[in-house]
Amino acid sequence: MTQKQGMTIAIDGPAASGKTTVGKKLADLLNYLFLDTGCMYRAATLAALKNDIDVHDETAVTEHAKTIDLIINSTDLVEDGRLYTVLLNGEDVTWDIRTPAVDANVSQVSKYLGVRNEMVKRQREYGRKGNVIMVGRDIGTIVLPDAPLKLYITATAEERAQRRWQDRQMQGHEASFDIILEDVIRRDNIDSQRKHSPLKPAADAIEIDTTQQSVDLIIKQIMTMIQEKQEVH
Ligand code: DC
Repeated sequence: MTQKQGMTIAIDGPAASGKTTVGKKLADLLNYLFLDTGCMYRAATLAALKNDIDVHDETAVTEHAKTIDLIINSTDLVEDGRLYTVLLNGEDVTWDIRTPAVDANVSQVSKYLGVRNEMVKRQREYGRKGNVIMVGRDIGTIVLPDAPLKLYITATAEERAQRRWQDRQMQGHEASFDIILEDVIRRDNIDSQRKHSPLKPAADAIEIDTTQQSVDLIIKQIMTMIQEKQEVH
């Protein structure tokens, strides 16, 4: 496909909806930059935990988040199943940001306006480069409101919990399906009911339900949408 300069694609949706898998595959196909913004909130959470900062102390968490050096790299990857590498103050934390401790606290940290403002500022810098696929909860609504293509990817809570359970198994963590399902529902509630930038589809987003659908089929559908957008722009 011919690549036009400046196209940005915003993908939002709840935890484990398949948005990261879909976003990464699309980015590889189109040779676009891929940014999973959830990893930034996870890194800010890990940074607070590592520094013994109480995650309920909004000021301390926010001030600390502003100081962290965060680099997300998609090239020259270690072959251990990662989609990108996350460097927090120079340390590779790609897997450390996926632990149950971070899962349990990341929704709290991502509620804070100061933390969000800091992360959004960094995300928009990636967006300015164009040819980027950015994935998160508020990309179409807040981070890149002018993105020419906005997708909102969903799946049932049970299917999402099943996917997260499989990820955990692959990472060698003991996991109970029921606890993961509870956590998925708890995080959906926090993410969609929070005051700042709640999880919701942008008014002009196209909704895609990935329940029981193959990734390949979804990619095919989205590639058609991209082609149509590129013909218009
Ligand atoms: O996509 P994820 O599960 O890795 O996201 C981790 C958390 O970060 C999730 O609870 C919501 C939050 N998040 C957010 O508030 N805004 C984003 N753009 C991305 C993630």
